[in-house]
Amino acid sequence: MKKVYFETYGCQMNKYDSELVAGILKSSGYEETHEAAESDLILINTCSVREHAETRVFGRLDALRALKSQRPELIIGVLGCMAVRLKETISERKPFVNFTVGPDNYRALPEILSKLGRNGSDGSLSLADVDNYEVYGELFPAHSDGVSAWVAVMRGCNNFCSYCIVPYVRGRERSRRISDIINEVKKLAALNYREIILLGQNVNSYQDGGADFADLIRKVADVDGIERVRFATSHPKDLSIKLIKAIAEHPIICKHIHLPVQSGSDKILKQMNRNYSRRHYLELVQTIREQISDVGLYTDIIVGFPGENEHDYQNTVDLVKNVEFDGSFIFKYSPREGTAATKFTETVSETEKVERLKNLNKIQDQITLKRNLALIGKTVTILVEGPSKKAKPNQYMGRTETNKIVVFNSQKPPKNGFVDVTIIDAKSHTLFGSLVHNKN
Ligand code: SAH
Ligand code: SF4
Ligand code: F3S
Repeated sequence: MKKVYFETYGCQMNKYDSELVAGILKSSGYEETHEAAESDLILINTCSVREHAETRVFGRLDALRALKSQRPELIIGVLGCMAVRLKETISERKPFVNFTVGPDNYRALPEILSKLGRNGSDGSLSLADVDNYEVYGELFPAHSDGVSAWVAVMRGCNNFCSYCIVPYVRGRERSRRISDIINEVKKLAALNYREIILLGQNVNSYQDGGADFADLIRKVADVDGIERVRFATSHPKDLSIKLIKAIAEHPIICKHIHLPVQSGSDKILKQMNRNYSRRHYLELVQTIREQISDVGLYTDIIVGFPGENEHDYQNTVDLVKNVEFDGSFIFKYSPREGTAATKFTETVSETEKVERLKNLNKIQDQITLKRNLALIGKTVTILVEGPSKKAKPNQYMGRTETNKIVVFNSQKPPKNGFVDVTIIDAKSHTLFGSLVHNKN
């Protein structure tokens, strides 16, 4: 067996895609390794969403070049969104990269690898064409170990938010068939995965025949052995009441919604082409909270969008304080060539962007802490993922239904599964729990 090493940047969809590629390569004789140094093939699965993500990959490629000079037969390939956007740049600036393959062309990888084998490893191949129909419907990815697995339900995006590169690198929105999704989920259940995270850029546009995402998620939640289902992401312009009701009613569907707001200013939302107003967003949050008690609500925000003045920014701050999200992922605007927003002149300096980012992060951290402190004394069920990241002896971590991380002590390793803990302490990013009893 040859060995393949993956390094993945970007969103959960990209992480899922690496598992998909690992599955495709398994059938052509590759097994996965976690050591770049011992691999025959290195695959960097890349992200183009912000400039920083791309710069990191270029830096990383330079570092990998050293491995390649020691072992010229080593093959390095670039996958993912940068393969579509920057294939020429990569082949010019990093000629030691053997191939670039885009998100819609992974089925061709075995063939590309065998071509490289025949021509020696000094070829430079590229296959990075957006294919508006590819959904990898029937394929079963080599899911990484654990209790929780990602499952893509749709690919691409039609929303064209003015700042965003995704529709250009991932193509048009298309849904995978319900039968293919359910097959994957059943196999995962048989492999002892307990939680499924359904992925799509905008799950509320999911469609298969007459079925929408709310129908799909109920079907996934009904699969025997699956005990939790989550999803990402919902667009505020079309999160349906039907889906909100499914979350409220179905015990297996987690009370956890990721609802990117991007900005609290109507002027900026319009320029972002988001197609909803601040008021619509706030009303939606109110509906969600009325329907789903104790829901975990998370968002994405961009600061420093062209034309965002102090007043617009304060509108975002005000919205964040008003909604009191459980968490916000806040980004500095990064212009992406070819997107509509590049025709707006940038008005916010880098210093100001950094300032707004830091300030908003601080505000969100205080809110998160406040919401976490309110949980002290409560008993919650968590799905145990394994030893805590900081790996103190006898310390383990898991997540609540609302996606909060809880760290707890246990004498013996809890069998991966559900445990009840009473929350005894809280920090902004972590809760600390004391074990009540093991449900399994
Ligand atoms: N499809 C998902 C997420 C897409 S990318 C959705 O629509 O919710 C994840 C996040 O990156 C976005 O929500 C946005 O906040 C941020 N983002 C996208 N393009 C960006 C850019 N050009 N600059 C800074 N942040 C960006
Ligand atoms: Fe990008 Fe907007 Fe599509 Fe999300 S909905 S992927 S932010 S274009
Ligand atoms: Fe995901 Fe980045 Fe591509 S966020 S869709 S990997 S541009």
